[in-house]
Amino acid sequence: MRTLLHLSDLHFGRIDPATLAPLLATAEAIRPDLVIVSGDLTQRARRGQFREARDFLAALPQPQIVVPGNHDVPLYIVALRFADPLANYRRYITDDLEPYFRDDEVAVVGINTARSLTFKGGRINERQVTRVRERLCELPDTVTSVIVTHHPFDLPEGHPPEDLVRRARMAMEAFVACGADVIASGHLHVSHTTHTAIRYKLPGRSALVVQAGTATSTRERGEPNSFNVLAIERARISVERRVWRAADRAFVPGAVEVFDRTAEGWERASPPESAKEEPPPVGRAPVG
Ligand SMILES: [Fe+2]
Ligand SMILES: [Fe+2]
Repeated sequence: MRTLLHLSDLHFGRIDPATLAPLLATAEAIRPDLVIVSGDLTQRARRGQFREARDFLAALPQPQIVVPGNHDVPLYIVALRFADPLANYRRYITDDLEPYFRDDEVAVVGINTARSLTFKGGRINERQVTRVRERLCELPDTVTSVIVTHHPFDLPEGHPPEDLVRRARMAMEAFVACGADVIASGHLHVSHTTHTAIRYKLPGRSALVVQAGTATSTRERGEPNSFNVLAIERARISVERRVWRAADRAFVPGAVEVFDRTAEGWERASPPESAKEEPPPVGRAPVG
């Protein structure tokens, strides 16, 4: 079994500082095999914010797969936004925009979906999809594959299709054809878990889609700060939510969802164990 800690939307520059030490302590206690961070490390892509994010990542367990989000592209520094949109991200976080982790049980590939030309939307292109296919298609059947992006490939109820990463269907068809098992994303600041058979209706195969909420930011969208713990076995994946309880200054165990591998791909094995899986409020705040 492999344990993945899935954090997202840290938003240094607009964090709740009370969450940081408890998050580090919880991460240490979980002892993950890998930490994945699905983008929006900063609020405004400023150097000081990236330095804070860098120091926080350094205090988390290793190894890590990190991808940028739309907030990691400077919005107002126009020259930088178009000339070298991820200059600060590459300088302070990593210059690897196609990070890859592989051991004998899991393969995890990160994709950059942040772009200069859109303020908050994301996009994936054919070159990126080809790179992912090269990695996933060669994997033996014993390895579970995970794709990490900032922008989502599926949405909770109440979110319009415009919130999906652009070219999602093209990418998903390729990923699923190569046996992708899990797509892990962020951006919406809402926790959500589903599988691709519902939206994409791809024959014969269904991947698991896992959205993380915001781990540390005050930009919550109607739910407390949270992150995910994925326990990955070849035949079963459980997604456990850890939820910030401010009164206790702790991330406490939340809903656990279990998915089983079937001949048609990943299917839900049990209903959510808490009432927390209700759809988010319909009066939507802008996504982040
Ligand atoms: Fe975002
Ligand atoms: Fe965000």
